[in-house]
Amino acid sequence: MSNRIGSYISFTLFGESHGAEIGVLADGLPAGIPVDEDFIKKQLSRRRPVGAISTARVESDEYRIVSGVFGGYTTGAPLCLLIPNSNTDSKSYEGLTHHPRPGHADYTALVKYGGYSDYRGGGHFSGRLTAALTAMGALMQSALKAKGVEIGAHISTIGDIKDKSFTPSAEEFALSAQDFPVIDKAVGEKMKAYIAEAAAEGDSVGGIVELAVTGVPAGVGEPWFDGVENALARAMFGIPAVKGIEFGAGFDFARLKGSTANDLLQKEQGRVVTKTNNNGGINGGISNGMPVIYRLAIKPTPSIYKEQNTLNLKADTVAPLQIHGRHDPAIIHRAVPVTEAVSALVFADLLAQQYGRAWLVPVKEEK
Ligand SMILES: Cc1cc2nc3c(=O)[nH]c(=O)nc-3n(C[C@H](O)[C@H](O)[C@H](O)COP(=O)(O)O)c2cc1C
Repeated sequence: MSNRIGSYISFTLFGESHGAEIGVLADGLPAGIPVDEDFIKKQLSRRRPVGAISTARVESDEYRIVSGVFGGYTTGAPLCLLIPNSNTDSKSYEGLTHHPRPGHADYTALVKYGGYSDYRGGGHFSGRLTAALTAMGALMQSALKAKGVEIGAHISTIGDIKDKSFTPSAEEFALSAQDFPVIDKAVGEKMKAYIAEAAAEGDSVGGIVELAVTGVPAGVGEPWFDGVENALARAMFGIPAVKGIEFGAGFDFARLKGSTANDLLQKEQGRVVTKTNNNGGINGGISNGMPVIYRLAIKPTPSIYKEQNTLNLKADTVAPLQIHGRHDPAIIHRAVPVTEAVSALVFADLLAQQYGRAWLVPVKEEK
């Protein structure tokens, strides 16, 4: 199993949806990073379900940091963050081992672990674990912000409904802190209505999240396989339901000519910048100093209440499956703070590789 990302600073994710607790263990953090509890709570509350467009399973997400923090600062020792699971209801998952949910990991987990895995609530594959990632990511996000590296994300597409693209500007980043983060609020209302409509039909919807990271200095990332794109792609595909990633113009590059695709270099206030940012701030796997821009395709929630005809392994026949339990009709709005958090973990590690771990400590306060 590989539940770890990062090399200079590593983050290991553990737990199951209906187990006692979920958590993240961070190793390699420098001493002296302030722990911004308010920001951690805020990010956790953004991930929590809201109203008719989310699951009915609401957890209080009372996190505990059980090691690696003393007097409000990281100590340099491994930091273990835990979140208990309390609002669990496992009875609706009992039949799923022999009648696996299509699109979920029930069948693949059964094949891989021979029936020993904890299937309750999706077990280790559940979106529930993203609460722990969100909390740890928030800790790193505030450390990065203090160093001028800011992460913003918004819902760019749901169905055929599209939000504006990131410029990115400080105003857009402020908007991305909403519960339903969109740049154009009217578009956001249409998206919510579309989710509610699918939910009423017992169905689910997917979408695209767009992220921007500003303030990353030029020169971060290592060719060939430890570049910024490589590190982000590896980490983002760990988030359940992420099925695609593109950087800058991404798949649109296929339609462009070199003369329009190339980002021309120029100087602004003594700094080298590019006129356009089709490459999403990355060339050769190395940051070029422009905002790092990427988009993630999030699939529709696999657990839908509509009946589906799918293989029953025990009966060895295709049979109607009626899914019960509590599920999100759309994952995307809850995934936004998760994608920000995982981005923070990736950039903390990449920047520590480039400048040393101590670079992440905002102000060196002698103890
Ligand atoms: C925040 C979040 C919430 C999720 N909620 C649900 C859910 O309620 N029901 C469900 O079937 N899948 C949910 N998922 C997605 C599944 O965990 C995921 O589709 C499954 O583990 C299979 O992984 P894959 O889609 O990456 O292949 C959620 C994912 C995230 C990130």
